Amino acid sequence: MELEVIERIVEKYGSDRTAVMEILIDIQEQKRYLPREALHYLSKKLAVPLTRLYHMATFYEALSLTPLGRCQIHVCTGTACHVRGAARILDQLESSLKIRAGGVTPDLEYGLKTVNCVGACALGPVVQVDGQYHGNMTPLKIERMLQKNGGADQKEVVTCPG
Ligand code: FES
Repeated sequence: MELEVIERIVEKYGSDRTAVMEILIDIQEQKRYLPREALHYLSKKLAVPLTRLYHMATFYEALSLTPLGRCQIHVCTGTACHVRGAARILDQLESSLKIRAGGVTPDLEYGLKTVNCVGACALGPVVQVDGQYHGNMTPLKIERMLQKNGGADQKEVVTCPG
């Protein structure tokens, strides 16, 4: 891990311990996860208990101790989406991306997670891709997107920014 990246982020916030959440988010955006070395460095540099940093890293959905995909796909499995067929949507994506929920593709391009209600129940079942909602999803819609964008690889479910 390049510690210089972490040092630059910490310097950006003037080594202010009250900005620890912002620092963690910046590291997450840069590295796509929070390397353990970074947490140890922050703990010493900002005099923040390591246990607090790990608590934050595991509590907040936006943070992760393992690398996330460049394109994060969330399938809502909340009650409203569940009764409208979220399980079939998840099955389709797991099959197409060849990963299970909670996993990332070997090239770290795509990550797949389930979430419990994204607040768009009327649009269920909902799939969220890098923050954008796609409602009323069906396995056929997923399949069409895959055919349109993915070809043989079938990984380009939707175009992700960046
Ligand atoms: S249950 Fe899926 S958006 Fe609410």
